[in-house]
Amino acid sequence: MALLPILCYPDPKLHTVAKPVAAVDARIQQLAADMLETMYEAKGIGLAATQINVHERLIVIDVSEERDQPMVLINPELVWTSATTHLNEEGCLSVPGIYDGVTRFDAVHVKALDEKGNSRVIEADGLLAVCVQHEMDHLVGKVFVEYLSPLKRNRIKTKMIKAQREESR
Ligand code: NI
Repeated sequence: MALLPILCYPDPKLHTVAKPVAAVDARIQQLAADMLETMYEAKGIGLAATQINVHERLIVIDVSEERDQPMVLINPELVWTSATTHLNEEGCLSVPGIYDGVTRFDAVHVKALDEKGNSRVIEADGLLAVCVQHEMDHLVGKVFVEYLSPLKRNRIKTKMIKAQREESR
């Protein structure tokens, strides 16, 4: 097990489009385990491989209160989305300290492979639905702040760059 460094917005590598996972093998299983460890350590509810600079379609999620229901989604695809949407406050481990409203589908069905390579369809609503949509966006190079107004996004960008500069001092 290993903790992996998380890319911080506005790192351009966060805009890389991930490729499908070719085979669910020992390497992918180790990567998923390391991503879960990294996510729990950072107190996040989801992490996409993009955020640790691996550009393959893999996400990990745990939205449970007890932090004991890890989910691994490999090559996730939305197969159904609800007609209704709502505005949720979101945050992201790659944009620490920033929370803002993003409109998402209320419910989604997502087809994915699990860590054993078994295909399944997850019927997600509530926080899980929001999290799945947020993490799947990372796989296509999209960070949630891109849904905000250019003015807000630029303010966040400036704040992040300043924070990173101070941290590296
Ligand atoms: Ni995120």
